[in-house]
Formats: sequence, C-alpha cells, structure tokens
Amino acid sequence: MPQKSIADAVREDRLWQRHVDLAKIGATPKGGVNRQALTPADGKGRALVTSWAEVRGFTTAVDAIGNLFFRRAGSDPDALPVVCGSHIDTQPTGGRFDGTYGVLAGLEALEAAADLNLVTKRPLEFVAWMNEEGSRFQPATMGSSVYSGANTLDAMLAVTDGDGVTVGEALPATIAATPRAAPRELGAPMAAYLEAHIEQGPRLENARKTVGIVTGIQGCRWFTIEVLGDEAHAGTTPLAARKDALRRALNMIAAIQDIMADDTDTVRFTVGRMEVFPNSPNTVPSRVLFTIDFRHPDLAVLTDLGDRIAAICEAKAGGQPVTVRETYKVPPTTFDARIVGHVREATRRLDLSMMDIVSGALHDAKYMNDICPSAMIFVPCEKGISHNEIENATPEDLAAGARVLAEVLIALANE
Ligand code: GLV
Ligand code: MN
Ligand code: MN
Repeated sequence: MPQKSIADAVREDRLWQRHVDLAKIGATPKGGVNRQALTPADGKGRALVTSWAEVRGFTTAVDAIGNLFFRRAGSDPDALPVVCGSHIDTQPTGGRFDGTYGVLAGLEALEAAADLNLVTKRPLEFVAWMNEEGSRFQPATMGSSVYSGANTLDAMLAVTDGDGVTVGEALPATIAATPRAAPRELGAPMAAYLEAHIEQGPRLENARKTVGIVTGIQGCRWFTIEVLGDEAHAGTTPLAARKDALRRALNMIAAIQDIMADDTDTVRFTVGRMEVFPNSPNTVPSRVLFTIDFRHPDLAVLTDLGDRIAAICEAKAGGQPVTVRETYKVPPTTFDARIVGHVREATRRLDLSMMDIVSGALHDAKYMNDICPSAMIFVPCEKGISHNEIENATPEDLAAGARVLAEVLIALANE
C-alpha cells in the first residue's frame, strides 16, 4: 500500500476541535476571544497548547521575550529547523482564528508527521510569538521583532501598558505558565519560516479561492500624539480664552484625513485610540492622546505621507504643546520567491484554487523574512471580518491551508 501523504494525514476534525478548545480561554459573550498578551488568559492558552504538544513528545522552549517554540526532532542533529507559527494573543475584541490558526496549523502539521512516523532531515518547529497584536503593549509583532534583532530586548522589556505595568514585569508569570519549557537563545537561526493565517480581508472569499499565495505585506507606521491644553469651565470660558486639547486634536485628525484621501482606496488610515482628560462633559479637555495606524504597500507613499504627520500636528496645535511619537515603522515586505514558489507548487499539487495576495495585516513573518527565507499561506475568513468577535472561517478551508503548510514544511525539511 502506498504511504499516506502528509496532506492526507492532516485531520480537519482535530484541527477544528483545537480551535474550539483554545477559544474557551478568554472567551467573550459574543463568541470571540479576549486573550491579550501577557495576561493570565495568555498564560493559560500557552499552557494548553504546550499540553497538546507534550502528549506528542514535542519539546518546548521559550526565549527571553517569551516566544514559545515546539520542536519535532529531525534525523540530522546539526540541521537548522524549518519553523512555522503565528500568535495566540488577541485583540480585546478578537476572534477565534487570527493568529491562533497559524499556531494550531503548525501543531497539526507536526502531529500529522508524527502519525505517519515520518523521519525528516531537519527538525520541524512551530512557534507562538509573544504579543503580535500590540493592543496591550506597543509595538505589535513585539516578540518576533526582538527575535530578529529589529528591536532590543531591553527596550521592549521597558514598554508599559495603560496601567504602567512593564513587559518585564508581566513576562515572568507568563513564562512560568509553561514550566517545562527549556530556555532558548534569541535569534537562533532557522532554515526557513512559514506562517498560515486567515486573510482578515474579503478578497479570497470574493474571488472564491481557497488559498492566498502571500507575496508580501504592506508597510505600516504607528504614531502616538499627545496634545496639551488647560482645563476650564465649559459654561463660562469664552472660546478665545480656551486651550482646548480635544478641539486641537480633532483639527489635526481632520487635516491628516485630508492628505490620506485616496481615490484608489489603497491608503489605510485609522485613529483607533483616544484618551481625553479629565473626560468630563463640562470641563474643557486639558490633555488628549490619540493613535494613528497608517499603512500602504508602496514605500514612497508610506514615507511621504507618514513624514507629513508631525508637521500637520504642529501647524494645527495653535501654539499648544503637542508631541508626536512614532511607535512602529515597518517598510513593505516582499517574501522569498523560492519559498513562495513552494507554497504555489504545493497548492497546485493539492488541486486547490489560489490567487496571489499582498497582506493588508501585519504578521510576524515580516521579521522572520529579515533573517531567513519566509512566506505565508492565507485561507478565507467569512465576509473578510477580523479584529471582531464574530470572525469566522470554515473547518474545510482551515484544513486546506494546513495541508499546504504541511506539504511545504516536509519538502523544506528534507532539502
Ligand atoms: C495585526 O493584527 C495588524 O494590526 O495587522
Ligand atoms: Mn494575526
Ligand atoms: Mn490581529
């Protein structure tokens, strides 16, 4: 009897059940997940994935920023691992699949290899990167950026959340949740990196394609802007005598929105957080903090428009103090042509429909691509909805992407 292929050994029911079980940790009333980075729920999620991996005899390791690795040994002890993965931290109103899918598809691929008793030359690994989402601690893709050397460990350990808790203070409890994980060196080399992910947009579904061959990721810049003013009585203070921080901030946002106007609908511009102090209906605001998330696939546009933000804020501040901090800056990514070719070839072999796609969302694969040849595999998500509790995907599509992932991992692990 011919040996079952790795794709045939990928089990849709097991992969789906893992999603159901992991979604119970941090479950929200609307069916989503709130499992933000370095919270107790994050630790519990990491412990659950570790328990699944340990049952299969995969070894566990964690590095100094909390990236969690799982390994199935290869036959050549000196060979670099082929690594896949994503993240299990979520947005505050996150879904069941963003990130989680890439981690569980990696687990499924290694389990399928174990079920077949496959011997690969290289070790196979999957990883759960620490704090991909960047909602509690900025920047996003924190763990992978430290792993690749784009950010220093010390700088990231000093980052604080909204309550003043640092990454360095929150990390030990999360690491303690997986007590058998061995220490792992930051930046340890990899032969290649692959990341499976839901698309988080509508293009695959609209085109009725099952697999997105991800050729790159658009660039992204984040800013935090703080505007100061003076508190004053809302009923009595003449407009000319006010130093209203919110009025200034709104003028800044309107002016930035004007330069971001784009007939081609390529620019992505979001003000996602705003803090107003003292946040009272009848006191003129004395302090406003807001964030900007700006993305574009073209480096020239990303640079030009992004570089104009600080000057616009100064011009609209009307003499009130304003500070503009850039908290995240990543240029557009082009994935490795050889690994992308492997993904395309495996998708063709499995007779799945496909289309090339540039990712609108950020991914840890961006930083891995800086240190080893990397690529991504997308599967559709319902109506393109993501960063939302109703985020959804089908068991069939998740399994299809995992089959492509497993095929590519095995091919690369035997090179
Ligand atoms: C990651 O979740 C992103 O913001 O694209
Ligand atoms: Mn994600
Ligand atoms: Mn996300």
